[in-house]
This record gives sequence, C-alpha cells and structure tokens, in this order.
Amino acid sequence: MSSNEQSHKTTGLHIGDAVPGCSKKDPMLVIDHVKKTFGGLTAVDVEHLEIPKNAITALIGPNGAGKTTLFNLLTGFDNPDTGTWSFEGTSLAGVPSFKVAQLGQVRTFQLTKALSLLTVLENMKLGAKGQKGESLLSALIPGRWRKQDSEIEVKAMELLARFKLDTKKDDFAASLSGGQRKLLEMARALMTDPVLVMLDEPMAGVNPALTQSLLDHVINLKKEGMTVLFVEHDMHMVRHIADWVVVMAEGKVVAEGPPETVMKEQAVIDAYLGSHQDTDLGVVTGRIDIIPEEGK
Ligand SMILES: Nc1ncnc2c1ncn2[C@@H]1O[C@H](COP(=O)(O)OP(=O)(O)OP(=O)(O)O)[C@@H](O)[C@H]1O
Ligand SMILES: [Mg+2]
Repeated sequence: MSSNEQSHKTTGLHIGDAVPGCSKKDPMLVIDHVKKTFGGLTAVDVEHLEIPKNAITALIGPNGAGKTTLFNLLTGFDNPDTGTWSFEGTSLAGVPSFKVAQLGQVRTFQLTKALSLLTVLENMKLGAKGQKGESLLSALIPGRWRKQDSEIEVKAMELLARFKLDTKKDDFAASLSGGQRKLLEMARALMTDPVLVMLDEPMAGVNPALTQSLLDHVINLKKEGMTVLFVEHDMHMVRHIADWVVVMAEGKVVAEGPPETVMKEQAVIDAYLGSHQDTDLGVVTGRIDIIPEEGK
C-alpha cells in the first residue's frame, strides 16, 4: 500500500535543515513576528514561518496551541498585535477577509459555517460572492447579472457533482450529515478558484465512510495546482497526505519537517502527551500512534 500511497507526496520543499522557521524553495505564505494575545494569554507567537507552494502542509499541535487563531490572523478574520505576512509576495497585514479570499486564499472553519436554512446550491452560490456579478454596477445591468448567475450555477453544480452532493442541491444544509457539511464547505471554498486552501480540521466529526473521499479530495486540490494548509488532530490523515508538517505548541512553532521525521521528534511527542495524558484519549485515536514509535 505504501508505494501507491506515497506516490502523491511532494519532497524537497525546504532549504537547509528542517528546523522551525526554515526557508522553503518556493514559499506561498511568509509569516514574520506574528503575535496575538488575549488578555494575558499569548495565543500566537510565530517568529518566522514559510508555507511551501504546491504542497500539502499540516499544522498540528495540542488543543489551544493557537492553530485556529493563526488561521484567523492569516485570513483577516482577526488582527494580530504585531507582525507581517505575505501571500505570493503580497503583504496581507490589515487586509480584510473578503479581500483575502478574492486574492485567492480561502479557508474553511473548524465548526462548519454552512448556512442551515439555505439550500446546498444557495450555499454554493454564496461562495462566489465577491465576483463581478456582486458589484452594484453589474447588478444594474440585468443581462450581465443573469449570465454571471448561470455561470455560477454551472460551476456550483460541477463542484457539487465532484463532491457527490449534486443530488442534494435543493436540500437545506441543515439536513446534511456532519461529514457532508464539511464537504459542502470545501466545495463552497472552491467557488472562487483559490490558489491556497486552508482547512481547519476537515476530518472532525466526519463519518469513517466519508474519510477516504475527503482525503482524496484534498490530494486532488494539490494535483490541480493548489496549495493546501490544513489543521488536523487525526494523525493518520496527517501521515497519509501531508508533504510537510508544522507543529505548534503554546503559540510557537516548535518543529517542522516531513511527516515521517517530524512526528518522531521529542518536542512533538511532548506537545501531544503533555496535553493529553490526562484528558480524553478516546477522541485522539490517531495521535496515540506516536508513542510506540518513540520507544523504538
Ligand atoms: N477570542 C478569544 N478570546 C480569548 N481567548 C481566545 C480567543 N480565541 C482563542 N483564544 C485562546 O487562545 C488559545 C489558542 O486557541 P486556538 O483556538 O487558536 O487553539 P487551537 O490550536 O485551534 O486549538 P484546538 O485544537 O482545540 O482547535 C487558547 O488558549 C484559546 O482559549
Ligand atoms: Mg482550532
């Protein structure tokens, strides 16, 4: 299974040693001195981090490590206390979320934001927001608007078919299962033709029957030339699809490297065991894998 499974892996992404903050040959995101505090708590304190282009990077770390906060900062959903970051060379500090999405950087949410009282197709159309049909001028020219609207619908239906949600186009999003909602959110994110797709816990709450298709969808994004950055606690998913892994703990990047090496590092094991040894291990099944490997 491994030769076939590994064939999609991209290697040779970094320059020099795989240490926190190391340079990438072709970075898509470059982050410098990004810090965010909530009251006395430092949620994010990233000195330097580069996310490689055309690769799948996993951002892992224990609960409260600052992963979602970093996503919020990078996508303009929250503002840092200090710091700068750029996306394909364009500085994004202070750029609002809708603009970030228009520039080609989209994200999904840990708790899905599918609008329950809209249909699946309506949710998809909302994903196209910010395209030219949304401007006031276009709205005043009905013909142009209709053309745009039908183009959007064709595109939405293509994506829904790809995610096997096309037969549910007229169902309310509320009627979907947790996994289908995750798929809908991913499909909706693709409505704007992004170059960077950021997924916050795409596997959380997903029924095992949908797991493989979700993994395949993420791998396909890379095959189509997109860059993926995803947060995930499921270490099977991380091992299986990530080309590169960034480990956060207490707001900082504590390790990064290819999955097969970084997940054996002491800092990574400490970060997970430290926070999970007396919490619910039942929900972190994949994570337990790293314990026996350490003992080898
Ligand atoms: N809006 C907020 N106000 C106050 N504290 C916050 C806020 N958002 C996050 N935090 C705190 O910042 C820290 C980082 O939280 P964050 O949600 O980024 O972690 P995470 O790595 O995504 O965790 P998880 O794996 O549980 O999703 C936590 O201590 C959290 O309680
Ligand atoms: Mg989170």
